[in-house]
Amino acid sequence: MTTLKFDLDAQGIATLTIDVPDRGMNVITPELTQELAAAVERVASDAAIKGAIITSGKPGAFVAGADLKDLVTAFDKGIDTVEASKSSFELSALFRRIETCGKPFAAAINGLALGGGFELCLACHYRVLADDPKAVVGLPEVQVGLLPGAGGTQRLPRLIGIINALPLLLQRSHVKPAEALKLGIVHAIAPAAEVAAKAREWLLASPSAEQPWDSKKFRVPGGAGPLAAHAMQSFGAGNALTLANTQGNYPAPHAILSCVFEGTQVPIGTGLRIESKYFGKLLSGAVARNLIRTMFINKGAADKLANRPKNVPKSKVSKLGVLGAGMMGAGIAHVSAKVGIEVVLLDTTQEQADKGKAGIAAKQAKDLKKGKTTQDKVDAILNRIKATADYADLEGCDLIVEAVFENRAIKAEVTDKAEAVIPQTAIFGSNTSTLPITDLATASKRPRQFIGIHFFSPVEKMPLVEIILGEQTSSETLARTLDYVAQIKKTPIVVRDFPGFFTSRVFGTFCAEGQKMLLDGIAPALIENGAKMAGFPVGPLAVSDEVTMFLQQSIYKQQEADNLPEKYRGKVGRPVIDKMVDELKRPGRRFGAGFYDYPQGQPKKLWPGLKQAFPPKAEQPDVSEIKARLLTIMALETARCFEEGVIATPIDADIGSILGIGFPAWTGGTLSYIDTMGIRAFVDECQRLAKTWGPRFEPSDWLLARAHKNEAFYPRSAETETA
Ligand code: NAI
Repeated sequence: MTTLKFDLDAQGIATLTIDVPDRGMNVITPELTQELAAAVERVASDAAIKGAIITSGKPGAFVAGADLKDLVTAFDKGIDTVEASKSSFELSALFRRIETCGKPFAAAINGLALGGGFELCLACHYRVLADDPKAVVGLPEVQVGLLPGAGGTQRLPRLIGIINALPLLLQRSHVKPAEALKLGIVHAIAPAAEVAAKAREWLLASPSAEQPWDSKKFRVPGGAGPLAAHAMQSFGAGNALTLANTQGNYPAPHAILSCVFEGTQVPIGTGLRIESKYFGKLLSGAVARNLIRTMFINKGAADKLANRPKNVPKSKVSKLGVLGAGMMGAGIAHVSAKVGIEVVLLDTTQEQADKGKAGIAAKQAKDLKKGKTTQDKVDAILNRIKATADYADLEGCDLIVEAVFENRAIKAEVTDKAEAVIPQTAIFGSNTSTLPITDLATASKRPRQFIGIHFFSPVEKMPLVEIILGEQTSSETLARTLDYVAQIKKTPIVVRDFPGFFTSRVFGTFCAEGQKMLLDGIAPALIENGAKMAGFPVGPLAVSDEVTMFLQQSIYKQQEADNLPEKYRGKVGRPVIDKMVDELKRPGRRFGAGFYDYPQGQPKKLWPGLKQAFPPKAEQPDVSEIKARLLTIMALETARCFEEGVIATPIDADIGSILGIGFPAWTGGTLSYIDTMGIRAFVDECQRLAKTWGPRFEPSDWLLARAHKNEAFYPRSAETETA
């Protein structure tokens, strides 16, 4: 398989064109590395060759970097640190050979060049970039828990200085052409069709084949030159900032800082070895694997609807009816109208419906003011939404999403009224957050076409949609619902019907555990900080305030009324909720008072009265215990969901827990968390926590049996198991 074309012209300029077959984008494969190495040796050894251009055969894209799927294969095989460092150093050594082989190399960057693709460019002596907004360059490895392991952390600081390089290595992954030129990471920009000609022009002018960092002018031979006077200080500050941002959960930013700090004080050859060593550690560690597997591979698979029932033709919603123009209904109408769906937004009165639409108009106006959209687009979106109180307007809708009050009787009434108007083939979806779908479907004359479509708030921002199958939901209904979720560009997970489904059930354990900690005499600030240090976006007390304790109380009451078995009730938090709502009248943020105070125009503050209401004990546990309780209880509840078939695959659990309920991404999701710890160590930890904090931490017999067999949720490849 040829991935690289080699052309030589009459003037002695070689053109190496990268074109990896069967890929939309060029990625660095073992074949490409091999062929590139051979081509570089040919350029180096053939006296007739003056220099070489490296470019891509794919229009608009140079090289996108490593293939994440290859990395996951490496993870599955159980790559170790030494092996990972060695394989990274092979590519790094090839790039070093390019810059030291004695012949000038020019990168004609005809489009996007990221990660390893851009590192290849940095190893060339000259870089010309396409003048096209899509032709971004950068080193985004930190986002997948890695670092640029083929010279990126060494060349970039030597090229533009440490202070300029760090933000590009740690935060800003994509740099547009004009800025790339200004920063000095490319030498020139030119129209995409002319980059190769420009590179040729440079080569024909008999340029030097030496990188600045290899020149004698550098004060430390081959090194970075002395660090800028304030660089030491900036490393100190950078380290503190990185620690604050990552809470120590993400090792990549620290590894990048170490590479730059250690690597720029020594000659580049040594720096590259240091970089490979750190890269190997990251690649063989759990965080990179978890991030890549869940957030890039599995999320992509879910986006592409891997589990969509076959044999159902692809469908598109053209007319959507949304019942209830409140917070959720308006959001659902908004995201649907944005992708071109005609929407009927219905509420009890015209005034209520208009209010919902006005909220959408206000959000659009904000976007317009920020320059994110145009007046034409705003008008088109708003014109697609008809606010109404008249059910007759629902005629012709292929899908209904119901988002009225969380009340069975009201939901039954609107189901009946809508079904009288909509086509026989239409699907009826409910956005209920807690009520079982099978129950709600009893109000429908077409239970096979009844399904749960559970959005998250705010709908515009939250990427997840939880699809819930009622007992009678047909596979065609599921397929068409998945098509709708794809149409509005959200990521679906599919779950079985159960009170709280998957996400609310697991999320409930997070809130309840935080509330129970108050009863255990743990200081509120420790609870909140412990959650943040574990990587949750907000603590369980703040989030309880957000969803309101009224709602949590009504869920507990509903669970009681439904006679839900004890083990499913978040009753450990119940005394706290009842006290906060009934006695202290502090039900949450919307009411101006909850676990926090909400002073006007100022940031919220933990309510000082909490200390009297739930007196903290003199002796406080270590923060690691807070982290362990929160992470473990959610992972354990997920395992129960898996055991009971509420979720069918670990992928659904992992994506759902990260995208829907803020489980920390470094874990890879609730089930990846168990795998990362090792299932045996996990059940030991559960049993330890059960002894100290209560039987809710007790693992089930099913989980214990699984641990006994050491059965992971993501089995490693057969190759490793036999290895
Ligand atoms: P909301 O109170 O903001 O809106 C409900 C809307 O339904 C109101 O505009 C109300 O006038 C309307 N409505 C009530 N009875 C009606 C009827 N008979 N016919 C037509 N319209 C009627 O409530 P929200 O937060 O939008 O929740 C709606 C549904 O979405 C509930 O089932 C809730 O459990 C669920 N949900 C809520 C989430 C949240 O974060 N708030 C998240 C996911 C689901």
